Order: sequence, then C-alpha cells, then structure tokens
Amino acid sequence: MSQSWWSDAVFYQIYPRSFFDASGDGVGDLRGVISKLDYIAELGVTALWLSPFYPSPQVDAGYDVSDYCDVDPLFGSLADFTELLQAAHARNIKVTIDIVPNHCSNLHPWFQAAVAAGRGSAERARFHFVDGRGENGELPPTNWTSVFGGPSWTRVTEPDGTPGQWYYHLFAAEQPDFNWDNPEVLQEFIRVFRFWLDLGVDGFRIDVSDALIKDTNWRDTDGGWPIIPKDDSSGVHEIYRALRRVMDEYDGDRMAVIETGADDHTVALFLRPDEMHLAFNFSFVKAQWRADSFRQAIDNALAANALVGAHTTWVTDNHDTPRSVSRYSSDVSLDGSYIPAVSSDQASVTEQGKQRVTALAALLLSLPGAAYIYNGQELGLPNIDDLPEEVLQDPLFARTQGEIRGRDGCRIPMPWDQSLNCGFSAAATTWLPLPPTYSQYSVSTQSSMSDSMLMNYKTLLALRSQYPAMRRGTVEWVETQENCLDIRRAYEGGETMRCFVNFNNSAVAAPTATPLWSSTAIVDGQLAGNSAVLWLEN
Ligand code: GLC
Repeated sequence: MSQSWWSDAVFYQIYPRSFFDASGDGVGDLRGVISKLDYIAELGVTALWLSPFYPSPQVDAGYDVSDYCDVDPLFGSLADFTELLQAAHARNIKVTIDIVPNHCSNLHPWFQAAVAAGRGSAERARFHFVDGRGENGELPPTNWTSVFGGPSWTRVTEPDGTPGQWYYHLFAAEQPDFNWDNPEVLQEFIRVFRFWLDLGVDGFRIDVSDALIKDTNWRDTDGGWPIIPKDDSSGVHEIYRALRRVMDEYDGDRMAVIETGADDHTVALFLRPDEMHLAFNFSFVKAQWRADSFRQAIDNALAANALVGAHTTWVTDNHDTPRSVSRYSSDVSLDGSYIPAVSSDQASVTEQGKQRVTALAALLLSLPGAAYIYNGQELGLPNIDDLPEEVLQDPLFARTQGEIRGRDGCRIPMPWDQSLNCGFSAAATTWLPLPPTYSQYSVSTQSSMSDSMLMNYKTLLALRSQYPAMRRGTVEWVETQENCLDIRRAYEGGETMRCFVNFNNSAVAAPTATPLWSSTAIVDGQLAGNSAVLWLEN
C-alpha cells in the first residue's frame, strides 16, 4: 500500500530571518531560502517547514500576524514565495508553512476594528473582550497569566476615551486571542487555508493548535494558569474536522502538523482520522540523557499514536527550545517545561554534548514516522546564552523583567562560510549577532571534514532514504547492556535494521555486526560512551 509522503518525511524547519539574507539588510529572507535550496536538497531532507513570513509588526518574530495571506516586505513578496514553492517542488521537496490561528497581531485589521467599534459589537465578538472586575472594571476578569509572563489581560480605551474592556491574550499583549466560539473565525481561517492550498503549499504547521477554545466562564485558577479545554465537548475538535474537510477537497496529499504541549493521549485526540495528520512529539525535547528516559519517550509516543492509527514525529530541536547540543553538554536535568530554561552554566558545548547529539541523530532518523530537523541542528550549532541584553528580541525577556532570557539563543543566524557574518549577510549588523565561535561550525568548514556533524547528518539521511526500515515498520526492544538501547527495526518484506545507543559516558562492548554507520569508531570491540551504531541484521 502506498504511504502518504508526510508519514515518513524529514522536514527541515527554516527560520527565515536566520537562514540566509539575500537582500543584505541583516535579516534572512525568502530569496535567501531559494538560493540555498541546493544545500537543502543535498542534505537529503524531503520537506520544508517555514516559520512565519507574513506581514507582522514582529513583536514575537512573526508569530503576531497582521495579514495571513501575504508576505512581509522584510522577507520578500508573494512572488518570491511562489518562486520558492516552484523551485522546491522542482527538487522534489515539499513545502509546509506556519499558520497561527490562536491569535493575531494587535495591528490586524480585525483587532483594530474591534477596539474602534466598542462594547457589544460584532467586531469585538471575534476576540475575547470582557468587562473587568472591581467597582469600575479596573481589575482584569481573571487572574490568568500569559505564557510570556505578566497578565493575560490588557485593558483598552473605549472610543469615547474612557477606560474600557479587557481583552485576552495567551501570549504577549500584542497577540490578542481570537474567539473561536465565533463561527466567523473558522470561516476566516478556511479562507486562509484555501488561499495557500490554492497556491500549492503541501501543508501547514499549526501554531498552539490545542489552545483555540478557552473556558469563557472566566474563573480564577490556582497559580493563574488558563483553563483551556481540549476534550470532545469543548468544540476544539469540530474546528479541526472542519479544516480537515477543506484540506481533503484538494489533491496532492496535503497535510497538517499540530503544535501542542499536551500529553501523548490528549495529542492523539487531534490525530483521529478525520482531524489532523501529524503532531509534534516533544518527548525527545524533554527526555533525560538516559536509556530508560528515551525508551519511555518512544514507547509512549508509539502507543498513543497507535490508538488512533496515526504516524509519530520525532523532534529534538526547534526555534523555542535551547539547542540540543547545549542541553546535552552537561548532566544537569532539564525541567521539561514548555520552554525549558538553560542557565548560563549549561551554555558551553562539551565534547560529550557533541557525541551525544551525533548519536541522537541516529535515533531521530531511524524510528518509524516523520522527523523534524531545525536549521543549524545539522551543524551542531550551540545555543548562545551570553548575548548582550540590549540585542535580545524575544518578548519573554521584557515580559519577565529579564528573569527569562528567552529563545534568542537558538535563533542566531546560520553560519555558511568564513566571510563577514559567517556568510549569512553582507549587512554591517544582523538582526541577532553571530558569535565569533560560529565560524567553526560553518557549512563550508564542515563540508570538508568527513566526521563533521553535517557529514554525519548527510550520511544518515542518505541511509534513511535507501532503507525503508529506518523510517517505517516496527520497533522491537532487544535486551541489552545497562543504560543502552538496542532497537530492532523491521519493515515488511524488507531488510531489518538495528540501532544501538550507548547512553553511558564510558565504553561498552560494541555490537559484533559490521556497522553501516557509527557515530564513533569501534576500537578493540568497544563502543565509546555517548555513541550509536546502525547495522543491517542478516
Ligand atoms: C508557538 C511558537 C512560538 C510562539 C508562540 C506564540 O509556541 O512556536 O515561537 O512564540 O507559539 O505564537
């Protein structure tokens, strides 16, 4: 039976502002992506996910959209996007784009109209405008806090100049939440979906997908965490069924992957056959560097997806998470939260961290399902945690009064070569500065080193394309040595692969088979600590 292309695709996440700057203004752009498509094709990934490039005041790096059907001049034009789409398709690379349905920008025409139209208007009913508590409505409707710190409510001034209602925002004040109980909102997003599907995109990544419906009884909660129901009675699943029906009208096997921080079983609800296609599985982002932690992450994800017949995804890095090589450079455990904080003592990259993420790449790319790679992950780029405060851009930094430095450290521009700004941009300054250490990670440097992270990724991606058992089929655990994993990967009628990972810091007895690939050399029958081996079983 033929499988959907997305079920075992390798998606490459491009953070457009940090990928390649073709215009020379210090910010990456769509023409920059076009000019690097050969690099992407040679890497061996099969699809792209582009983070938002829509018109936006850029308060949250474009996740505050003011027009869902255009391109911000910062990144280029719609014509550039169409060219990118065609150029990617010409290389057999699918293109998926980010849709942000939970909230828009405060400069979106709908929100501007809502503020201007006043209490009780149809325009306000597209958002959550609520009267405040207290004698004169001077207190927010609930004690709910924003994901980015500070209150979730902001008060507007009414058209007559008096202090007015409050509107709800899960994130920054410049990101007002849509009221998805209002059918007009669904109609608008159906229009947005159609716009991009008509243009020929292969799919969507849906931002904060599980938070669309709020409990509008507006009650205080312990700790101020919002009440966001996700069960069938909440109505959120009806939204995804409606969007799925629209997608199914199109040919070409279009898909959507949802971003949600919910537990595996809640996530699976969104992956029922009439809802969305894939969901990010963040269990590897949260996993501790221990065999049992990764085994549990794999078992839980596969079991939850199997309940609804869905394919799993595997993810270690993205634009919200400290880069994995930095996370695994120390043994300090992560807190497993939505945006785990890396403290500065974790910032330096160690040899151990590099070894671990090289081994982890083998695991990421040899499990059944789709895999995601975040630009720069293939270079082993470290997180940068000592950016000067004056260059920090993430709203998390300001909204937490500097308590959380935010996500800029994983969003630094890509180093391409040894020239100015490591070849990212010809501008005097770039939107975030590239640290001097980044030149050693550049694409040109790593291309000429056979054991570089980049070359390891290329080899693994080539093997994955050659051997379906690396991307489809079953997972069977083979009993093995302490704190190691030995996975048998069988694919019907095809070869059987094995993937062995040593999570110890010290060497163990290496598998005796001839390796197809190993992250470190096997010496005297010993496999070094923090290493992985792949081989074909006879
Ligand atoms: C998602 C995005 C993140 C953004 C947030 C609000 O979690 O990945 O970057 O800040 O949504 O849109």
